[in-house]
Amino acid sequence: MPVPQTNYQNIESRNSDWLEQSQKASKRSRFIVIGSVITLAVLIAVGVAVGVTLSKKSSNNSSSSSSSASAPAGTNPNDPSNFPKNSALVNSFYGIAYTPLGSQLPNCGNNLTEVIEDIQLLSQITTNIRLYGADCNQSSLVLAAIQATKVKMSVYLGNYPASDDNGTAYTRQKGEIQTALQQYGAANVAGVTVGNEFILDYITGQGQTDPNGSAGQAAAAMLIPWINDTRSMLSSMGMSNILVGNADAGSYFNNEVLAAVDYGMANVHPWFANQSIDNAAAWTGEFFSSTDVALAQSLPNQPKMYIAETGWPTGSSSFNANPNDGPSLASVENLQIFINDFACNATKNGTGYFFFEFSDEPWKNTTYGGVEGYWGLFDSNKNLKNITIPTC
Ligand SMILES: *[C@@H]1O[C@H](CO)[C@@H](O)[C@H](O)[C@H]1NC(C)=O
Ligand SMILES: *[C@@H]1O[C@H](CO)[C@@H](O)[C@H](O)[C@H]1NC(C)=O
Ligand SMILES: *[C@@H]1O[C@H](CO)[C@@H](O)[C@H](O)[C@H]1NC(C)=O
Ligand SMILES: *[C@@H]1O[C@H](CO)[C@@H](O)[C@H](O)[C@H]1NC(C)=O
Ligand SMILES: *[C@@H]1O[C@H](CO)[C@@H](O)[C@H](O)[C@H]1NC(C)=O
Ligand SMILES: *[C@@H]1O[C@H](CO)[C@@H](O)[C@H](O)[C@H]1NC(C)=O
Ligand SMILES: *[C@@H]1O[C@H](CO)[C@@H](O)[C@H](O)[C@H]1NC(C)=O
Ligand SMILES: *[C@@H]1O[C@H](CO)[C@@H](O)[C@H](O)[C@H]1NC(C)=O
Ligand SMILES: *[C@@H]1O[C@H](CO)[C@@H](O)[C@H](O)[C@H]1NC(C)=O
Ligand SMILES: *[C@@H]1O[C@H](CO)[C@@H](O)[C@H](O)[C@H]1NC(C)=O
Repeated sequence: MPVPQTNYQNIESRNSDWLEQSQKASKRSRFIVIGSVITLAVLIAVGVAVGVTLSKKSSNNSSSSSSSASAPAGTNPNDPSNFPKNSALVNSFYGIAYTPLGSQLPNCGNNLTEVIEDIQLLSQITTNIRLYGADCNQSSLVLAAIQATKVKMSVYLGNYPASDDNGTAYTRQKGEIQTALQQYGAANVAGVTVGNEFILDYITGQGQTDPNGSAGQAAAAMLIPWINDTRSMLSSMGMSNILVGNADAGSYFNNEVLAAVDYGMANVHPWFANQSIDNAAAWTGEFFSSTDVALAQSLPNQPKMYIAETGWPTGSSSFNANPNDGPSLASVENLQIFINDFACNATKNGTGYFFFEFSDEPWKNTTYGGVEGYWGLFDSNKNLKNITIPTC
């Protein structure tokens, strides 16, 4: 079904938001590059700091979290698979977008204790998560936590390369991913996503808007060799069953990039498209179908498409950004409406989506302001916001 004309206007307004985001993103890249010098020291420090000893029992994917439904209150630190269930949590989401807090260079602050707690919560609302990058040992921490908790969980690992560092960030994260796969195996890994909003960031940085234009082709010429290189790495490890994909803003897929991957993940945000909350779920499905699924189906490889991010912010900070709301407020009440309208319908009709996101990320509020720090289902202290998760 073609997108009505009014939605093209909405896409334009979203583009301006995404342009703003892309400027932030390139600041983030520079931050990451500067930080890489300090990476090794920080990683060593984290390694020393992580005091939790993991039992090296091999993962048992068949034992689901329900096996410990009668666990006593309080997490048992010696057996992370024995944890209390929260009756407010319902396994209704196809997938959740997740970044462990403290996973940005140079200030890595994550640790296995925290990631285990996250996975215990995530396992009660979904069986699929996606990561964005691999810095700060997050691939290993997440796989270690899945195996320690023995929950049913598939993860799409992420490699978040930069366009201005001659592949330094790509290579660094490739190493992290390889180490994680060597240590924890492929059983819980569904895919490796190479690139996050890479085309969006690059072409807006060049003042262009067409993902298939000259800047888009230049960005694709960086990205596709990394995609191929990741495939070669997996193949050399005997893990070619792990899929290789790419994530970008919903209207910024370059055709050649999409033709080189097994799957594409598209950010489709009714908030940034200035949609009213009443129309948000319907708009999301319609945009994704007519823009991303349609493009993928026109390509020879017909990559499977997912919604990489969709959600609704619950607040806005006036710091460093325009706090203005669109036609509907950034509020917990509207997050509830979006969940009610979208989550179960999309899970049931076979739309693979990653709800954005697990918890509020304070570093985004501090760095970017606006709604950036307010997208969590949980707040940054891992308390579920005042929402009711529907049973599908
Ligand atoms: C990464 O995390 C894993 C799992 O906790 C741990 O075994 C490993 O030592 C960590 N690596 C570094 C470099 O911190
Ligand atoms: C893990 O990180 C949390 C949050 O930063 C911190 O409070 C805790 O002390 C850390 N635990 C370990 C074992 O390092
Ligand atoms: C990338 O490589 C080129 C050519 O070797 C060099 O001139 C440039 O400074 C490098 N850029 C970075 C960010 O390392
Ligand atoms: C890129 O160009 C192709 C035609 O060459 C077109 O089908 C596709 O929709 C374009 N992609 C976008 C996102 O505009
Ligand atoms: C990437 O891999 C595909 C499939 O093997 C191949 O056709 C293509 O030429 C490769 N592209 C680059 C830039 O390496
Ligand atoms: C979602 O499902 C509910 C219940 O079946 C239905 O009333 C609603 O119209 C659906 N919403 C969308 C956006 O499809
Ligand atoms: C699936 O459900 C979502 C949420 O209601 C909707 O936006 C989307 O259009 C539906 N997709 C299909 C293929 O029916
Ligand atoms: C967003 O929607 C509101 C209300 O419908 C409208 O007043 C405003 O101009 C729109 N903003 C943009 C950037 O399109
Ligand atoms: C975001 O930052 C503002 C100040 O810049 C602060 O007032 C607010 O409490 C913060 N919100 C969250 C969720 O971190
Ligand atoms: C939580 O949400 C419910 C339903 O919207 C509302 O009645 C209640 O006042 C909210 N509680 C808090 C603490 O905000």
